[in-house]
Amino acid sequence: MPIELTFLGHSGFVVSGGSHAVAIDPFLTGNPLAVTKPQDVKCGHIALSHGHADHIGDTVAIAKMNGAQVFAAFEICNYLGEHGIEKAQPMNPGGKVMTDFGFIALTQAFHSSSFEDRYMGMPCGVILNIGGVTIYHCGDTGLFSDMKLIGEIYKPDIAMIPIGDRFTMGPELAARAAEFIKPKVAIPIHYNTWPPIEQDPASFKPSGVTVRVMKPGELWSYG
Ligand code: NI
Ligand code: MN
Repeated sequence: MPIELTFLGHSGFVVSGGSHAVAIDPFLTGNPLAVTKPQDVKCGHIALSHGHADHIGDTVAIAKMNGAQVFAAFEICNYLGEHGIEKAQPMNPGGKVMTDFGFIALTQAFHSSSFEDRYMGMPCGVILNIGGVTIYHCGDTGLFSDMKLIGEIYKPDIAMIPIGDRFTMGPELAARAAEFIKPKVAIPIHYNTWPPIEQDPASFKPSGVTVRVMKPGELWSYG
């Protein structure tokens, strides 16, 4: 079954398969690249990589508008619960939750995770299986060799890999990450949102992996 990916800009996506839609890191308000409004995001589920503001983004508003269930680190779910989000699936790295569309798992990521001076648990990558397609959204992370293991375990069709440098991998290390993960397609994320993470996505050139650069607001059918 084909799935549809809409890039929200920065690290955000909406992934649809059949009658299900999952938003990942839906950061729109204050995102200079965003062309989508929070009220235009329709999803029954939201998955978060970590607690930084450019990833939690509009989660509270979108979850309330859609009655969406949020998959995120335990501490993020506690925060969301205090802000009126009733349907949460608290998780931690290494764990998987089966869903009616497939599953969501969290992996490790080498980064930090805080929001409004509050500890938000471990930073993570998100594995999303929907419509028979598996996606590895790396979150914000440095390079780590267990990306190879994550690739072997989940065999992702698509990997979303940060290339902005400074806070995450830059293009050269992101290419090494893609070569570890071996997805069919790699989508560069987390770049050009602000001057400190300016990058030319053409400099992201993993060998043996197809790169697809998506524009904010662009919809891509896969599978
Ligand atoms: Ni971050
Ligand atoms: Mn970030």
